Amino acid sequence: MMANEQQHEYWNGEAGARWAAEDDTMAALLGPVAQELLDYLQPEAGIHALDIGCGGGSQSALLAQHIGEGGEVLGVDISAPMLDIARRRGQPAGAAALSFLEADAATYPFSAASFDLLFSRFGVMFFDDPIAAFNNMRRALKPSGRLGFCCWRAMKDNQWTLLPVQAALRHVPAPESPDPHAPGPFALADPRHLESILSVSGFSDIDIASRDVQLAFGSGGELRTAVAELMALGPVSRLLADQPPEILERVVDDAVPLLEPHYRDGKLMLSGAVWFVTGLAGS
Ligand SMILES: C[S@@+](CC[C@H](N)C(=O)[O-])C[C@H]1O[C@@H](n2cnc3c(N)ncnc32)[C@H](O)[C@@H]1O
Repeated sequence: MMANEQQHEYWNGEAGARWAAEDDTMAALLGPVAQELLDYLQPEAGIHALDIGCGGGSQSALLAQHIGEGGEVLGVDISAPMLDIARRRGQPAGAAALSFLEADAATYPFSAASFDLLFSRFGVMFFDDPIAAFNNMRRALKPSGRLGFCCWRAMKDNQWTLLPVQAALRHVPAPESPDPHAPGPFALADPRHLESILSVSGFSDIDIASRDVQLAFGSGGELRTAVAELMALGPVSRLLADQPPEILERVVDDAVPLLEPHYRDGKLMLSGAVWFVTGLAGS
C-alpha cells in the first residue's frame, strides 16, 4: 500500500469533489482562523513558505498577502480537485508569488533547507506515519526555519462537530473503537502525542497554545437548511456517508432542536477548539 493511500482516495474521490464544490463556504468559514493564525505567527516579509494540505488555497492567498512581494508561497496538496480550485484563485496583487504542487507532503522530496516557514491550516492531521511526514517536511526548512500551523483540539471541545455527531449517533452505529491518533481531523488533538511527534521529528522550542474560535456555519438560509449544510461537513459527514435519505432526514430532525439555540441571523454560531502550534527546525 502506498503512503496515505486511503487519504489519497478520500481527497480525490467523492469527498474531495464535495470539499472542492464547498470551497467558497469553507474559505468564508475558516478565513478568520487563518487571519488569527497569521497574526499569531507574524510571518516575516519576503520569506519562502510552504502551505501543507493547502486545499482550495484560500489561506495560501492570505499567507502570500502577509508575506508580500519578493516572497514565495508553495501550496502542497494530494487532492487534484482542491488544487484546481486553488489554481483558479489566481495570484493576489502585491502578494508573494503563489504556486501549487500536487504531492504527498509526507514523502515528496522537497529541496532541502529551502523554506523559512512550514505553515498549515488544518492540513497536517492526515498522515499514516506523522513522524516520517513531519521529519520529511522539516528537512525542507532552512536551519533558521520555523513551523506554524493550526489543528483541532478534541472533538468533545468542538461544538461544531460534537452536536451534529450526537444527533447522528442516535441513528447510526458509532465507529468501532476508533484509534484516537488515526489520520483524521482529531489525530493531533492530544497535546502530549503532538509534542512527541514533533520532537521526535526533530523540531525544537515546540509550543502548543489553546485557542477558541467562533465559527459561522450556513449560507444564510433557514435553520433546517443550515443544519443540513452542517451535516455535510467534517466527521459527521463521514458517519453519514452511506446512509439513505430517510436516515439523513431523521438525523436533521434530531439536530434541529440541539442547534436552534446557536442559530442567529441565518447562521449557526458554534465554537471551535484549536491548537496553534509553533516550533523551530534547528536545535
Ligand atoms: C481539512 S482540509 C484543509 C484544507 C485547507 N488547508 C483549508 O484550511 O481550507 C485538509 C487538506 O489536507 C490535504 N491532505 C491530506 N493528506 C495530505 C498529504 N499527505 N499531503 C498533502 N496534502 C494532504 C487534503 O487533500 C485536504 O485538502
